[in-house]
Amino acid sequence: MSVSDQGHPSLHEVASTSHTAPSSSVSPSGREARSPSLLRRLRRHSLRELLALVPVNLHHAVRRLSGRQRRARDADRAFDRTLGLDTSAPLSVGALGTGGAADAHASPYVPVGAPTLRAALAALPVEDFTPFTFIDLGSGKGRALLIAAEFGFREIVGVEYSLVLHEIAVKNMAIAGGTRGQALPILLHHGDAGAYAIPSGDKVIFLFNPFDGEIMARVAANIEAAAGDARTFVIYVNPRNRTPFETAAWETIADDGYAAIYRAREASRMT
Ligand SMILES: C[S@@+](CC[C@H](N)C(=O)[O-])C[C@H]1O[C@@H](n2cnc3c(N)ncnc32)[C@H](O)[C@@H]1O
Repeated sequence: MSVSDQGHPSLHEVASTSHTAPSSSVSPSGREARSPSLLRRLRRHSLRELLALVPVNLHHAVRRLSGRQRRARDADRAFDRTLGLDTSAPLSVGALGTGGAADAHASPYVPVGAPTLRAALAALPVEDFTPFTFIDLGSGKGRALLIAAEFGFREIVGVEYSLVLHEIAVKNMAIAGGTRGQALPILLHHGDAGAYAIPSGDKVIFLFNPFDGEIMARVAANIEAAAGDARTFVIYVNPRNRTPFETAAWETIADDGYAAIYRAREASRMT
């Protein structure tokens, strides 16, 4: 998966700060939906006319794309500027510096758009987050952790397998804590999310398309095993490997195609 492929979310986030599905022709899988009338429209032109149209269409496409991308980039940079951080620049899997077996399952680093995560957290049926732990599996440079810190969680945990990203996150948390004048309740773990022992207690797990279906199946089983009678929510943005959450163990409480929210059912309510 390329960095730009994972980057579709930013386009959506900037196109709409409300928490609605993308209105463009880009499907949640990132593939373009083909207009059924396209072939018919093309047949109306000779080859010469079609060739003459290429630069015109290219010009329009570039202008439209660059406008959206510019707004996405500006929103990302504004987030960093406010706190003096580095969370915006994407990194390909090759640049993550791990070279381990998990690379084959990993997505590149792209930060979640602040409006998307804020809207998802606000949509949870929770009035008070103080009993809750927020856990970002695949936490990258720590942007989601800093957004979660706005919501009053008891504890905030990031798990990231790339040492390069983990170390950037450590610096970002120190800077953000200094700017806010207090240490943030944020713990950073360097390691594979598939091997991370999910803690008991009320929790919100955050996933921004971090890895493929193989790791996701392992992670979902770990979350289920730790759920017990605690309140357990999963916010899954760009949910490309959502099958493990579409079982009787989970209830879908929101889904706009780009961000889905699941709640673990207690074992006694699963019949
Ligand atoms: C799309 S980025 C999301 C970053 C962050 N959650 C955010 O929203 O800003 C996905 C992250 O998952 C990390 N990742 C991929 N596979 C992982 C694994 N097995 N364990 C932990 N982190 C992983 C990548 O290095 C990358 O930082």
